[in-house]
Amino acid sequence: MSGLYRLLFTKLQLPSPSAIQGKTILITGANTGLGREAARHALALDASTVILGVRSLSKGEEAKINIESSTGCTDQGKVLVWSIDLESFSSLQAFAAQALRYVEDGGRLDIVIMNAGIASVEYNVTPDGWERGLQVNVLSTALLSLKLLPLLLRTKELEPSSRPHLTILTSDIHKLITFPERTEKAILTSLTNEEQWKSSQRLGGATERYGVTKLMDLFIAIELARLVPRDDLGNPLVIVNAVAPGFCKSDLLTREKAPWVLKLVQALIARTVEEGSKTLLHAVDQGIETHGRWLDNQVVADPGSMVTSPEAVIVREKVWREIVTILRDVDAEVRTEY
Ligand SMILES: NC(=O)c1ccc[n+]([C@@H]2O[C@H](COP(=O)([O-])OP(=O)(O)OC[C@H]3O[C@@H](n4cnc5c(N)ncnc54)[C@H](OP(=O)(O)O)[C@@H]3O)[C@@H](O)[C@H]2O)c1
Repeated sequence: MSGLYRLLFTKLQLPSPSAIQGKTILITGANTGLGREAARHALALDASTVILGVRSLSKGEEAKINIESSTGCTDQGKVLVWSIDLESFSSLQAFAAQALRYVEDGGRLDIVIMNAGIASVEYNVTPDGWERGLQVNVLSTALLSLKLLPLLLRTKELEPSSRPHLTILTSDIHKLITFPERTEKAILTSLTNEEQWKSSQRLGGATERYGVTKLMDLFIAIELARLVPRDDLGNPLVIVNAVAPGFCKSDLLTREKAPWVLKLVQALIARTVEEGSKTLLHAVDQGIETHGRWLDNQVVADPGSMVTSPEAVIVREKVWREIVTILRDVDAEVRTEY
């Protein structure tokens, strides 16, 4: 109930322009929804460059025109559109290589917002062999974060006064899940099994699996925060945090066959994406007190027992070990230690 109250009555804030001015921000899934609105806010707050990571270049170009015209931006080089498909590890690797070339050619990366995500309610397996939601929301989010972290560290190295950020989109829906697979020997393999998918849909309903992937996004943020190197004072060189934007009126549910009740509730009480996306910009302006932490309604919040209980910590570490093992097979160069 208190969550609903906060959703309806919290007035969200944008950071001051000085937090974003002159920075290069990369946002995945930026052709629509929260990602596009965050990109629009970033441009309005005078980011030097906004990189839209999109799986359809034509949709990305449309979003670019839309953002430029609404912000009055006439500088053609400010909004870049790069192709990425989180259903494909090789697409991710090509995207990461493009980011590396960009930085080597004199560009910089200050902020990465891992926003792209799906709430799939139908069982599908990607060409890489993983359940679609698991690959997009979890494995690809982890892989891309690991590939881009060195570029954020490079920014810090070249400009010690800078404060690079990596922010991962989560939700509060993880508080409602049952997640029976957490006791399995191979959790991610179990989550890709079709029979297990059907069983968990019966047990936990349509939002169960989406909630599990969003829990894992929080796990990823915590684990990434643990591996970020620190300066002599013990401060992380890149701030990694997780953000929940609250229930927002995006296409997340309408593009999937989500239950009509959920869509009705969304229509009645959810935030606009313009409002919800302020949480993304806020998260990338926060300090070390948010490193490895969860921001809900723009404050560091308790993510609940699925994250903090002693059993949850064991599950988190196991999930992370599984993710790292899978990703090392995909990409031998992926760096999971500093
Ligand atoms: N809306 C909410 O209430 C809510 C609440 C909590 C958390 N979130 C999180 O917020 C993030 C953004 O969601 P949204 O609400 O803005 O949803 P959305 O409107 O459906 O936008 C999702 C974005 O992700 C992109 N995407 C999906 N699959 C992709 C793939 N395989 N490769 C590359 N991009 C892909 C989509 O691109 P296409 O247009 O090409 O499909 C789109 O740009 C998600 O991570 C979601 O879990 C949303």
